[in-house]
Amino acid sequence: MPEDERKVCRCVSEVLPAIRMLVSKDNLKTLKVRRNGLIEYFCESPRNQVAIAKPFTPDAIVYCKSNYLFLNDETPGQVLENAEELIPGFVNKFGYLPKVLLIKGIGLVSVGDNARQCDTILDVFEDAMKVAFLSQSFGGAHPMTQAQIEFIDNWEVENYRRSVAAGNASGRVENKTIVVTGAAQGFGEGIAECLLREGANIVVADLNEEAGRNTVGKFNGLAKSNRAIFVKTNVSEISSLDNLVQETVCHFGGIDCFISNAGVLRAGGLEDMTPENFDFVTKINYNAYFYCTKVVSQVMKLQTKYASSDYFADIIQINSKSGLRGSKANFAYAGGKFGGVGLTQSFALELAPFRIKVNSVCPGNYYEGPLWSDPENGLFVQYLNAGKVPGAKTIDDVKAFYLAQVPMRKGCTPGDVTKGVLYLMEQCGETGQALPVTGGQVMLN
Ligand SMILES: NC(=O)c1ccc[n+]([C@@H]2O[C@H](COP(=O)([O-])OP(=O)(O)OC[C@H]3O[C@@H](n4cnc5c(N)ncnc54)[C@H](O)[C@@H]3O)[C@@H](O)[C@H]2O)c1
Repeated sequence: MPEDERKVCRCVSEVLPAIRMLVSKDNLKTLKVRRNGLIEYFCESPRNQVAIAKPFTPDAIVYCKSNYLFLNDETPGQVLENAEELIPGFVNKFGYLPKVLLIKGIGLVSVGDNARQCDTILDVFEDAMKVAFLSQSFGGAHPMTQAQIEFIDNWEVENYRRSVAAGNASGRVENKTIVVTGAAQGFGEGIAECLLREGANIVVADLNEEAGRNTVGKFNGLAKSNRAIFVKTNVSEISSLDNLVQETVCHFGGIDCFISNAGVLRAGGLEDMTPENFDFVTKINYNAYFYCTKVVSQVMKLQTKYASSDYFADIIQINSKSGLRGSKANFAYAGGKFGGVGLTQSFALELAPFRIKVNSVCPGNYYEGPLWSDPENGLFVQYLNAGKVPGAKTIDDVKAFYLAQVPMRKGCTPGDVTKGVLYLMEQCGETGQALPVTGGQVMLN
């Protein structure tokens, strides 16, 4: 039996985000793709699909229902054209949405109420494929009879089991898929954790593989029926972002919100700043926000084209108070962040007709995060050692100096920023804004 992993076609990003919307007219679904030698055997040949058209076991019906949709078209355009007719037809005929799709070139696709359910559907249906494949040596497959199928399909206990397996958690971003760049640590990690607790599927997209995988391990320990994955990503490379989109679509079926958070800081005045450091900061804080939006907006445009008219996608940039007010001896950072607000406004104008909102959140300083509090390289230690704060003898003195500049006398936390993010996602009356979350340190005109 062929069981080796096979590559999913790159065209998956041109198909699945649209199909996810076609099956999400009432509730947002999660889709997941699996492809290996066995799946390919059935996926690429309508003749072989006959053997898996009906369930073999009651369990298969409980988790996958008893009818499946096979899409055998050659091009993404044809698949979508057919899916637009076949999915409503399927619902009309059977009274429920398909939970299992087999798409030529792509593979086995589960349609779940959440990510956990998607895994179960894939496992159970792949088992059915194994039965169908192996039974060829014993005279062929023997599916359940129509009477048996109908009995199970309407079995109350089984319906109950199905609803329990689906989970019943409901958060403010339940079942949304949210990509957070730079989420291995710091603000990104904290924001991603808050959103995970609100029910989102999270993609941690970070250069730092070790920290990113640890963060995702922790997230999956906290998750209910949602899931987190890590995708090693360099936001300053388009090819890496293409891979991020492909992986996200294969795991969750689309992207509802993209949070451009990865950022770097190299402080310095005009005499110290090198062109190399200036370019480095600009490339990640400014250019990469353009790269991210260029790549992710394609998927989002496809989604909103096939979604109901009340569906909006979001791109949210984590900017800074330094994007609203100059920062002494820190112009590479402030300049890139100011530019980010210009990009946000311009992207918002371009993407509004596609129901994609684009906004920035401008946090104040996150004093508990590693940027400030790292015991070796944190800004508190650096500023103490450099004598930047007059008269400061301890880290607490440096901290007190900075807190004194905040009217609310507190640093900004990931929880504060997430409240801003949730507001921006939930509303649909505003785009192109830069929302300060600074404890009153920066106020808008
Ligand atoms: N920490 C603050 O006080 C503060 C205040 C205002 C705004 N911000 C903004 O918040 C965002 C996060 O800052 P932070 O303090 O959490 O930073 P951090 O240094 O703690 O974390 C940044 C993360 O981004 C990742 N990263 C760096 N370059 C990358 C790249 N090219 N591709 C992918 N990932 C990359 C790092 O590996 C790291 O995990 C930044 O945009 C920053 O400007 C931070």
